Amino acid sequence: MLKDQHNRIHDYLRISLTDSCNFRCAYCMPNEEIEVLPHSHLMSTAEIDQIAGIFVEQGIKKIRLTGGEPLVRKEFPDILKSLSKYPVELTMTTNGILVHKHIEAMKAAGMRSLNVSLDSLNRETFFKLTKRDQLEQVWNNILLLLREGFRIKINAVALNGIIENEILDFVALTKDYPLHVRFIEFMPFSGNHWKVDKVITARQMLEMVQTKFEVTKLHDEPHATAKKYHIPGHRGTFAFITTMSEHFCGDCNRLRITADGKMKNCLFGKEEMDLLGTLRQGKDILPLIKLSVQRKHAMLGGQFTPEFQKTEAEKIVNRSMIKIGG
Ligand code: GTP
Ligand code: 5AD
Ligand code: SF4
Repeated sequence: MLKDQHNRIHDYLRISLTDSCNFRCAYCMPNEEIEVLPHSHLMSTAEIDQIAGIFVEQGIKKIRLTGGEPLVRKEFPDILKSLSKYPVELTMTTNGILVHKHIEAMKAAGMRSLNVSLDSLNRETFFKLTKRDQLEQVWNNILLLLREGFRIKINAVALNGIIENEILDFVALTKDYPLHVRFIEFMPFSGNHWKVDKVITARQMLEMVQTKFEVTKLHDEPHATAKKYHIPGHRGTFAFITTMSEHFCGDCNRLRITADGKMKNCLFGKEEMDLLGTLRQGKDILPLIKLSVQRKHAMLGGQFTPEFQKTEAEKIVNRSMIKIGG
């Protein structure tokens, strides 16, 4: 069991398959950091399998594949197949654009849920954010996933100046579609030009929703990143991921492996354990995994205060989001 000094049991592993992406969202991938890892620095299919197997033996119950964009990794079908043998919930966070090409492989691997990033329902805004004119394909893929019975969460990063006009449209989607829309408070990562005035808090967003809808608070599952709400009569739900205004670290059960095989014990943790390098030297990686868990900070990687107004983003030492995987 992977228990840390704060009595948190870790049973959720996020594995990044690549630091490449076919979109260009500035909040995630700063222009100045566009250099991607050479293929030999990535964990191979066999290495991902081996590392995941060790975590599963230590009690991991859920594995989420992340990126960059996980579906651009050319070995994705093999990786998925090799991980499908483990007795875990296997899931993924994707930008959705290539989903139609992999839907059969995902079904065959027993994947039943996906989180799809979608920050705008407006074609021009979508293009402005992603630098790709592909809203229609992403939306069609979301509909395809729903038809195929997948549970779908939509992740919308709440960017000030953009999301305000669309919050009610996203919430309105939950009337006819069984979608779970999550608004994510904009978080600071190296190079993403985070500023306090670019953040819209969950409270501000909720107030906007309440101007139009009657809203009910739902019970949140243990370890959930999101605080969930429902509008009576709607098929879906909406929620807020409140890292900035109300962190949820006390209940954290998540560990991360970057595409180059470094273990991070927190999204904001600056310390990394080189699992891949150690594995390639033929050494046991379990002591490193345990050490990483033990050294986990109580909250926010020990790097910034929960009062986000005081966060000095430029002092945070971290990878950019595309190189962590969320
Ligand atoms: P579920 O397993 O469906 O609850 O998804 P998730 O929220 O764990 O993962 P997802 O990849 O969909 O991430 C949604 C947002 O939550 C992203 O902005 C992530 O960076 C953020 N997030 C995920 N895990 C953590 C975490 O451990 N800490 C913080 N602060 N944010 C997280
Ligand atoms: N703040 C909040 N969420 C972010 N994501 C990427 N960058 C940020 C950020 N700076 C989201 C993506 C994706 C998830 C893995 O993280 O939109 O849905
Ligand atoms: Fe866990 Fe770190 Fe996220 Fe807090 S910021 S919930 S400790 S990963």
